Amino acid sequence: MNDFERKTLTHKIRQLEELPLPVKNLVAFRTLFKSGKITKREAAMALDHGYVLFCQLLRRIFVDDMLEDRNYVPNPAQTLDFLPFETICDILQNLPVVDSLQDSEHDEWEHASSCRILMEHLLRINDLNMPHLIAAARFHDIGHMVFRILTPKRFGMIEEAARSENKGIARHRMEESIIHMTHSEAGAILLESWGFPESVWKPVLYHHYDTTPPDYQFETAVLQFVDWIDSLARERNIDDPMDFMLAYAGLDTLDPKPWVKIQRRVVRYNEMRIRKFRETEFALLKEQNAE
Ligand SMILES: [Fe+2]
Ligand SMILES: [Fe+2]
Repeated sequence: MNDFERKTLTHKIRQLEELPLPVKNLVAFRTLFKSGKITKREAAMALDHGYVLFCQLLRRIFVDDMLEDRNYVPNPAQTLDFLPFETICDILQNLPVVDSLQDSEHDEWEHASSCRILMEHLLRINDLNMPHLIAAARFHDIGHMVFRILTPKRFGMIEEAARSENKGIARHRMEESIIHMTHSEAGAILLESWGFPESVWKPVLYHHYDTTPPDYQFETAVLQFVDWIDSLARERNIDDPMDFMLAYAGLDTLDPKPWVKIQRRVVRYNEMRIRKFRETEFALLKEQNAE
């Protein structure tokens, strides 16, 4: 039965063309993009913070085959060069909505954002140009959103369990027993079917595994490291990555403590930045509605 359920769910994920946005965000995005008054910088920031919308826009770029290099993943500013505001308005007009996000889901959005910041930092200090790894960090947990839409009851059970008696158990282990699929698998299936390159969805697929795909050992190790450090900074339950895994990126001898300490500051600073951005967004909306 488990196998049948997995296959049914896999099929449903492959058919998914849209992920919903919380109604408040969708209204804000629609108004701001439609007005055309949002600057490109502000729009790029909106995509930076709204990883679900950003993922949706990248889908359009990949599905419509807009890139010369199919392995390249554009950043938010480059995405706005590819997609005119009118196209973004069209996409926004047709996206489904969810009422609001629970606290844990807000935390999920912020985790995606601070993992992306840590990944960018790691790549920058090591002089590495790997935009696919930045995308993998942004979207590594998008499978949670997939479960929320396709299997809401079981998703609710996992949310509940994560808050209560099973608090000590890593979330992907609960998913294995309740949904028979982990969010890492769900996310990877979605990203693959949305046309993302293998260099993004494969490390996402393996981000909770004790094995790595031979062709993406470095990427998987770095993604596991980033997810681990940010989760420790947020005091979330996560299994420690195996040393041999971290060794693929030469990260096995690093003391995680100072990294966690710095990441705690990044998390706090980023939350403030997001709040500030939301205030700007709200002010722009007010201005727009007053006209
Ligand atoms: Fe995860
Ligand atoms: Fe994560």
